Amino acid sequence: MYLLETNDLKVHFPMKNNKKVVIKAVDGVSFKVPEGKTFGLVGESGCGKSTTARAVIRLYQPTGGDIMFGGKNIAHLKGKELKEYRRNVQMVFQDPYASLNPRMTVSQTIMDPMKIYKTGTAEEMQQRVYELMELTGLDKRFAKRFPHEFSGGQRQRIGIARALALNPKLVILDEPVSALDVSVQSQILNLLKELQEELNLTYLFISHNLSVVDYMCENIAVMYLGRVVEQASRQELFQDPKHPYTQALLSAIPSIGHRLTGEEEFLTGDLPSPADPPSGCTFHTRCPHACEKCRTQIPGKTKLSETHTAFCHMLEE
Ligand SMILES: Nc1ncnc2c1ncn2[C@@H]1O[C@H](COP(=O)(O)OP(=O)(O)OP(=O)(O)O)[C@@H](O)[C@H]1O
Ligand SMILES: [Mg+2]
Repeated sequence: MYLLETNDLKVHFPMKNNKKVVIKAVDGVSFKVPEGKTFGLVGESGCGKSTTARAVIRLYQPTGGDIMFGGKNIAHLKGKELKEYRRNVQMVFQDPYASLNPRMTVSQTIMDPMKIYKTGTAEEMQQRVYELMELTGLDKRFAKRFPHEFSGGQRQRIGIARALALNPKLVILDEPVSALDVSVQSQILNLLKELQEELNLTYLFISHNLSVVDYMCENIAVMYLGRVVEQASRQELFQDPKHPYTQALLSAIPSIGHRLTGEEEFLTGDLPSPADPPSGCTFHTRCPHACEKCRTQIPGKTKLSETHTAFCHMLEE
């Protein structure tokens, strides 16, 4: 059963200083997120991961495509219905310093979503705050302290507690540990795993760190320039990556790269601009295997298994 499904999702922005130019931040993204599991979105900076997340949480109105949540298309919800949907979908951000209001205490921060949705009496909400603090490993005695009095890891726990306040079904984690010390990263990742188990949460996990994705995600989509180029189970993706871009990403990580044949090449060249993407397969400008067809024709989807798909001419018959 899938909790979230995007079909040909597009989010285009007009360029700030030249409105005629369109930035195709997300350009036809389809993926399916099974309930109660962690789905990873990976790819280089600027490939459209956060924009995809913001569309799912409906901070952005999609330019095109569907976003199915629990079987209902939420891509164009408005007003009351949108507010109700947002209750089910919460986000944890990369930077726990920037995403917490410095003038709000821990208690006020975690209670904020409950106030917006009027989930109970003041006393009930305070009780829930304590419950959430306990759940996320925060000492209740610190409820009246301010964010700057905490370490990065503790602040991320506050962000997680706030995200859980309304009992969401889906939590979007946008680089949740990238800003933290390595020693703290695994504590937060393990906390997220425990919470998922306990609360039956579904995660959309965004990261450019493939080791972290390997640790956290059951299924993964690899994005390049606003599109998904390969999608697979963790096992398939890490043991048998089919798209040259995925192979290049993996070969750049020693601990994962050694499982590959050694023929894969590291990524060279810059990421092209989503305002002016290459023709044909958008990866052709950096692909070691690119041929004429790749420069002119967009590759279709190749199904490699029930759970594994990729978009590459080399895989087509
Ligand atoms: N509001 C916006 N207006 C115009 N362009 C945008 C907007 N938001 C994102 N973009 C552009 O869309 C592209 C995708 O951005 P996005 O933030 O989704 O990438 P990302 O994969 O999350 O990158 P990172 O790993 O750096 O967080 C980038 O080229 C970015 O400059
Ligand atoms: Mg981002």
